[in-house]
Amino acid sequence: MKEEINELISKKEISDKIDEIAEQINRDYAGKKVTLLCILKGSVFFTCELAKRLTVPVEFEFMTVSSYGDGIVSSGAIRIVEDDELEIRGDDVLVIEDIVDTGSTLSFLLSTLAKRGPASLKLCALLDKPSRRVKEVDVDYVGFEIPDKFVVGFGMDYAQKYRNLDYIGELIIKED
Ligand code: IMP
Ligand code: MG
Repeated sequence: MKEEINELISKKEISDKIDEIAEQINRDYAGKKVTLLCILKGSVFFTCELAKRLTVPVEFEFMTVSSYGDGIVSSGAIRIVEDDELEIRGDDVLVIEDIVDTGSTLSFLLSTLAKRGPASLKLCALLDKPSRRVKEVDVDYVGFEIPDKFVVGFGMDYAQKYRNLDYIGELIIKED
């Protein structure tokens, strides 16, 4: 088996898009402090790049949520692996995801987080694969809509590989 990666979104396109999203967030959260809740591990690069462009005060929280295992098809079983005893009561929370696929992860997370009494709870995802949606989720800030392709890079992995690519590409697995 050979793995190849076809570039879909360049480093420059990603950077320009994050500029745009940050501008919107700076406007929408003016006068507030925003708690960036980074969903590990895939959202780390996006969270950092976004945070560097924010002019409103920010705090960081991290959560590990698992649905994929090492495959390219979501297992559908979502669990919070690390919760960090997250205290968000009264906070303006912005959940940062790498990609919304079936929507299972975010809809599960949202209902869990909403019970903890945040002042507001919004979602921000770099990528959206709407064609695969199973659970309806309202994503407030979306970078790019992409077709039903398995992508890696800029934080996203295949079996923990390729997260460090500075672009986003489609993973192609070829039988040899
Ligand atoms: P969902 O619960 O099906 O929406 O899946 C969301 C999670 O699955 C994302 O946060 C990613 O970690 C992972 N995921 C979904 N699609 C891809 C992909 O194309 N490449 C890498 N990870 C993906
Ligand atoms: Mg993820």
